[in-house]
Amino acid sequence: MIKFSASILAADLSDLKTEIKRVEPFIDEIHLDIMDGHFVPNLTFAYPILEAVKKCTKLPIDAHLMVTNPEFHVEKLIKLGVDRITIHIESTFHINKLIYQVKENDIEAFVTLNPGTPLNTIEEVLSDVDGVLIMSVNPGFSGQKFIAKSLEKIKKLREWKQNYGMDYLIAVDGGINNDNIQTVVNAGADILIMGYGIFKNDNLENLSRTFRI
Ligand code: DX5
Ligand code: ZN
Repeated sequence: MIKFSASILAADLSDLKTEIKRVEPFIDEIHLDIMDGHFVPNLTFAYPILEAVKKCTKLPIDAHLMVTNPEFHVEKLIKLGVDRITIHIESTFHINKLIYQVKENDIEAFVTLNPGTPLNTIEEVLSDVDGVLIMSVNPGFSGQKFIAKSLEKIKKLREWKQNYGMDYLIAVDGGINNDNIQTVVNAGADILIMGYGIFKNDNLENLSRTFRI
């Protein structure tokens, strides 16, 4: 069962409600990229936008935290009713504590890592998380080119999952498009996070019909 997650960073933000309604039949969740201009060189959505998005859709919301102090934001995001919080391993000394804070509130906890961060940095928490997000671009912007080396990480994660009987989901974020989607799915992705691939794609209906199985 492959899920499509729409990164609204690539939507026409001047008409966000219409944009969400337009793609809603073809997606499973909304991906909210929260950037602080410090962990990544871009500033994006804060709490008011999350509240606005919640008014537009009933779809689950994944908050992807690209901030230097995720511990400052987890509690507030839980209160506002997100369905998943995705935390960068590079952004905190206390990943275990944050994962459990999220899970105790019956929200999904995902861990993620930048393209240059080795997979073994998250090994210790693999049995605790609901999922792992493989960043296939350097975080900060939509519309970047997929980093092919990420495929090795996806395959290795799937291998570990099978070998050690774990049940985390594998999400992939960045640069997924009509041409490489099949390769990403074949490598082992369960959740495909797409900005341009959803909001700027004339072939979305077809893509959704083919891959959301
Ligand atoms: C990058 C973000 C991604 C991005 C995906 O920092 O985390 O979610 O918006 O957009 P595309 O699919 O256009 O690369
Ligand atoms: Zn993201």
